[in-house]
Order: sequence, then structure tokens, then C-alpha cells
Amino acid sequence: MSNFFTPLIIVAAGLLVSKTCTGQNNRTAKDTTDRKWWKEAVVYQVYPRSFKDMDGDGIGDLKGIISKLDYIKSLGVDVVWLNPIYGSPNDDNGYDVSDYRNIMKDFGTMDDFDTMLKGMHTRGIKLVMDLVVNHSSDEHEWFKQSRSSRKNPYREYYHWWNAEKGKPPYRYSLFDVNHDAWRYDSLTNAYYLHYFSRKQPDLNWENPKLRAEVYDIMKFWADKGIDGFRLDAFQFAAKDTTFPAFPNGFERDFTQYYGMQGNLHGYLQEMNQEVLSKYNVMSVAEGAGNTFEDAHNLVDANRNELNMAYAFEAVDIAKPDGYSVVHLKDVFTKWDSAFTDKGWLSIFLANHDQARLVSRFGNDSPQFREASSKMLTTFIMTMRGTPYYYNGDELGMTNAGFTKIEDYRDVQTLNEYQRQKNIGADMQAYLKFIAFSSRDNGRTPFQWDATQNSGFTKGTPWINVNSNYKTINAASQEKDPNSTLNYFRKVVKLRKNNPVLVYGKYTLIDRENPDTYAYTRELNGKKLLILLNFKNKAMNAKTGIDLSKATILLSNYDKPSNTGRLRPYGAVIYELN
Ligand code: GLC
Repeated sequence: MSNFFTPLIIVAAGLLVSKTCTGQNNRTAKDTTDRKWWKEAVVYQVYPRSFKDMDGDGIGDLKGIISKLDYIKSLGVDVVWLNPIYGSPNDDNGYDVSDYRNIMKDFGTMDDFDTMLKGMHTRGIKLVMDLVVNHSSDEHEWFKQSRSSRKNPYREYYHWWNAEKGKPPYRYSLFDVNHDAWRYDSLTNAYYLHYFSRKQPDLNWENPKLRAEVYDIMKFWADKGIDGFRLDAFQFAAKDTTFPAFPNGFERDFTQYYGMQGNLHGYLQEMNQEVLSKYNVMSVAEGAGNTFEDAHNLVDANRNELNMAYAFEAVDIAKPDGYSVVHLKDVFTKWDSAFTDKGWLSIFLANHDQARLVSRFGNDSPQFREASSKMLTTFIMTMRGTPYYYNGDELGMTNAGFTKIEDYRDVQTLNEYQRQKNIGADMQAYLKFIAFSSRDNGRTPFQWDATQNSGFTKGTPWINVNSNYKTINAASQEKDPNSTLNYFRKVVKLRKNNPVLVYGKYTLIDRENPDTYAYTRELNGKKLLILLNFKNKAMNAKTGIDLSKATILLSNYDKPSNTGRLRPYGAVIYELN
């Protein structure tokens, strides 16, 4: 949690889970080496608003994605996770849905969607869509009805607290300018609940009618042929609707109070039975709860809920003043051990809610940007679990470099700015803080080439292009065999060709080393060693392994040493036998 008290990382502990209908219901202990397409996949996350604009309105669109499908294919990835593209007034860039069965006007039409999906499938790429059903937009017809009268049949689609009962017990809102999750609505003299912004009222999952509506929406998209769902903020969906008072200061650890409450597992089992089990889809949800037990319960196939855990503990490690490599190793190792025999993990260090990978976990100075970006990519692609990789990181795109609040667009960043101002905080310090951590850092337009607006749009981009686009862009990296882009392709290919990198046992070596991260991956007699230097100086990894006969499969530098000596941000993958 930051000094500014709003976690820029949205969900402090999270889970991304998936489910197919192809037999994993019979998983038992030791299921971790059962082959599944979603375990072997590399997921590439596309943030549609910032990917590619074709109609010149400055906002990315589906036609833009269609025009870049060959690029996505060339990366070697198998699955695209697309952030929300549904009808939305865009208070939170599509995470406030006003029409679940249509495409956001800015993004195009349903015909565009059908063309895009077909284009992906023709290329062997699967599509996972974001499903935002912890809340809707306040402009959704359900909410308009719900707020219109206490007697309206849609009243129970949301959480209301009648004002004659007094003020409801405090609930923390992540995005509200006062962090107050209850919003008074004079029309019916009642408060409604919104864990996120005022324009994102929380849906009432206790209502079977609401649940049936959601399952219908899911079927609508599954019938169109999509390959999976990412369930946004879903660990928060179930609430104790008696709304007991929480202890003072609960918001410092709100996931304890909001995560995995009530009948969440029951809802997931029902969703599985009604939708997920009927289609060959993978479903991906956000929110792991607070304990390994929570996470295991979600992904225990015998419970017929979900498959793949997406835990946020690691992304929280990076702070403006750096982070401890030992801490990073401990978090990844702890989660790996908890999932040794059962369940499956997602591996990621960045997404649309985080600042840029290389700026947070690597070193974005001109001298080390490429090496550190490649090193982090090596890490993500060589861990056990399904890698989730955020668009633009393959180019080593950096934080935005914004210096004034007018540059930002994110509802969370802007509301928190206002709040800090209201309480008389040091605004220069806040600006410095968001330059490191705001979600907008990861949302600047994709840097396609060195032409105006980085080739993203011919119009005025909805958010400024990073000024370094002439140096960092896909077109120039295509031409350079040693670029971060081409390195990404190599490491993805290596993973795809080596099941040991997907299923192999992970063993940490040299834990106490504060500079390097070393581990082996082993499967059926094949053993790989991965050495990573997280520092800007040459360092020695002390593995105790004789590397003189090892084969080097890949490195981010030419001619890496076979002594364990690593150049600044060096990364080497060895085969040991
Ligand atoms: C999730 C999304 C985030 C969004 C929030 C509210 O955390 O990843 O972008 O703002 O939910 O929907």
C-alpha cells in the first residue's frame, strides 16, 4: 500500500483462473503435469484503447487490432486477453459496462468483432474476453431502473441502503474521491454501494435473476466462439449484505474483508455448471483471496470452479525506491511450492493496472533498458505457470514520463490527485509517485514506428504518446535481430519447444544472493538452469553447478560466460545434461 493510501495496484491479492470443459474435472493431486492447452499457452494482453487506431479518432479500435493480427501471430503467442470492449461511458476505460452485448462505439461494431475473432482463429490464436460483473456502469439500463424506485424489479440487482436507517457502515472505495463506497442517491433517499468509482455500482450476486442474466451474457459470447473469460474483480463479488461494521483502518488490508466472502464459491460452481462446463472455454478471474487455501479452493478442479491462480503478491513488491531481489525470489518460490502438486499459476509482473515492466522491475535508462527488459522477459517465460505478457513490454516500452496532472486520464489517478489536494498533501510528491506507479504509465499508445504519434493514430491520441517512441518502436526493432522484440520471440519459441519450461519442477538455488536469481527446471530427465542478474553491474551467481559442459540455449548477451558470471542484467538459459 502506498503512502498515498490508494493502492495503485488495484487488487492487492488476486487470482486469475481458468476452466475448460475438456476433462480437467477429474484432476487429482499431481495433476500439475497433465497437459492442457491453457497451461502451455503464452497469453498476450491487448489494451484495445491504446493498441492501434484505424479511424483517426485517437482511440484504438477493433479494426486496428485486425490490422495487427499478423504482428501478434509473429510473436508466437497463443492467446489474446482483450480488455473490455463492451458499450461503456468509459469512466474506467470500459470497466464500467453499460451494454454487455454490444461493442463500444469508439472500438467499432459487432461485424468488426466477428472479423477480428475469425482472423484470430484463422491464425491459431485464441481470444479471452474480460467480463466485468462485480459491477456495471451506472448508465446500464439495470441501474437506471434500479435507482428509479424502491419498488422497481431491478432494485435488487444492486446493493442499496435506505437512508432512514442512518449512514451505512463505512466501506472503502478504491476509486472514489473520498474513498467512500456508499453514494447517496436522493431520488429514493438511499445509498448504493460502489467498491470502485461512483459510476461503477456493485451488482448484487445474491439475486438469482442477476446471476441468470450474467450467465446469459456469457453464453452470448461463448456462442460467438470466444475461448475464455477473465472475470474482473470477481473475488469481491460476494458480500455480507447485512453490512456489518468493519474495524477502523480495515481499508489498509481491504482484501481481507472484501475478498472471497459469502457464497463466492457457490456462485462460481453455479457459473461453471451453467456456462463454463458447456463450452470449450478457459475462464480467467481476478482475485486470489488471502491465503493459499483460498487460492486452492478456487482452482481445485474437483470443486468445478476455476483453474488458474493469478496472485498479485509479486507485483506489489516493486516500490519507488526499489525492491529486494530476495523478496521477489521468496514470493515466487512460495507460490510455486504451494502449487507443486495441485492447481496452476499465472506468471506475470505487469498488466494494464501496473506501470511498465522495465520501469518498475528493470532499469529503463538508455544503457540498461534493453538488457533488463530481456532479462525480465526471460524470467517470465521460464517460470512454471502460464505467462501473461502485457502489450508493449516486448518492445521494452517504458513509463510515460508525465510531469503534470493534465497528462493523466486514469480515474483512479485523477480522483486520488483531487483527494490529496483536498487534504493539503504535498502535490509534487504525489506527482512523483504517480510518475512511477500510475496505471496510465502502461496505457500510453503502442509504439509501432517513428512516424507521428508512433504510428498509433493519425488523429490526436486520447493519451500522449511516450516521447521516446522514435527510439523505442516495433518497426526499428523488426530490423534488428538483437532487439528486445526479437528476443521476446526467441524466448517464447524456446518455451513452446520445451515442455520442461511449462511443466518442469522449479528449484531455487542460492536464495540469499541479493543480486541474482538462479533456478533449475526439470522434467523427465531434462534439466535447465536459468541465471538472471537483477543488478546494473556484473555479478556472480553461485550455483555450485559445473557449467563448463552446459549448453547455452539462450542469452540476452553475445557469448555469455560458462562460469556463472553475469553481465549487467544478464540472463542465460543453460541445458545441463
Ligand atoms: C480490475 C481491472 C481494473 C479496473 C477494476 C474495476 O482491477 O483490472 O482495470 O479498474 O477492476 O473494474
